[in-house]
Amino acid sequence: GSEKKRYVVGVSQCSEDVWREKLNEELRIAALYYNDVDLRISSANDDVQMQTEQINKFVDEGVDLLIVAPGQVSISPAIDRAYEKGIPVIIFDRRTRSDKYTAYIGADNKEIGSSMGEYLAGTLTDGGRILELSGLSTSSPAIERNNGFDSVVQCRPGISIVEHLSADWTEQGAFRTVDSLLSEPHNEFDCVFAHNDRMAMGARRAAEKHGLNLEHIKFCGIDAMPQKGGGMELVDNGTLFASYTYPTRGDEVMLLAMNILEGKKYNRENQLSSALVTRDNARVLLMQNDETMRQQDHLSTLRSRVDKAASDFNTQRIYLLVLLVF
Ligand code: FRU
Repeated sequence: GSEKKRYVVGVSQCSEDVWREKLNEELRIAALYYNDVDLRISSANDDVQMQTEQINKFVDEGVDLLIVAPGQVSISPAIDRAYEKGIPVIIFDRRTRSDKYTAYIGADNKEIGSSMGEYLAGTLTDGGRILELSGLSTSSPAIERNNGFDSVVQCRPGISIVEHLSADWTEQGAFRTVDSLLSEPHNEFDCVFAHNDRMAMGARRAAEKHGLNLEHIKFCGIDAMPQKGGGMELVDNGTLFASYTYPTRGDEVMLLAMNILEGKKYNRENQLSSALVTRDNARVLLMQNDETMRQQDHLSTLRSRVDKAASDFNTQRIYLLVLLVF
């Protein structure tokens, strides 16, 4: 409705893609649930300048709380400014180097990198030459996933990184990067570890273009999105060798925001759990996700029935009132 909400919450997303769209949808649903939140979402296309301007605009509009996924670590001056003005700031998914924030929520990217390393060390028994394809090199998840992965590779003799490239988190960017690698003399590899599934698929498309044998290369990513055509399905049908869930959890992000806004207790550091996805568990995870989706549908149907009953009741009340007056 158009009635004034109690809290204005600004969300500054660094980019737009399936992962962030899912998160935004969860935030919208959570905002509806709390009833009192005017949620404003902006998207910056991984452009530092644009994200800075969008954050400044939220601050000037006087939002009550700011939620930011900083595209790159260098975005912090704008966030610092908001924080210094007394606006509570939640940093999620990506980080900056500044400690001027109220709370952080997100998964442990270093651990995601190292678990993937451990898994590959255990499974790449007949060929451990890895092409690592990092995400945007100035964004914190790429730096942390890289650190975690490399720390394991260094002490596991069966696997090694023979090529290390970095792209921009997109499928197209990864395709271009790997396409140009394969157009020049390069080291052969048995496995691609890309920092997300979209890039893993871009790398796969480039490998296909150059006639590499896709049966012999294991493509791994991160995110394991559960919807149609997402990473979880790609692992289940063998297109990807492995992935790792990277939780969106808009509900948790919004709960943290509400706790801060309402002066309740909250933790400054909030870790979301995530897990390795392989052919052994992908099907079960997909089934669980289906079930959750069914229940969510069910709940929203119930909600609209309750809303309808309430409005029918109101109409009847007015009707009765009119009858009584005349
Ligand atoms: C979505 C995304 C994910 C990745 C995350 C890292 O924008 O690129 O694919 O896991 O950001 O912050």
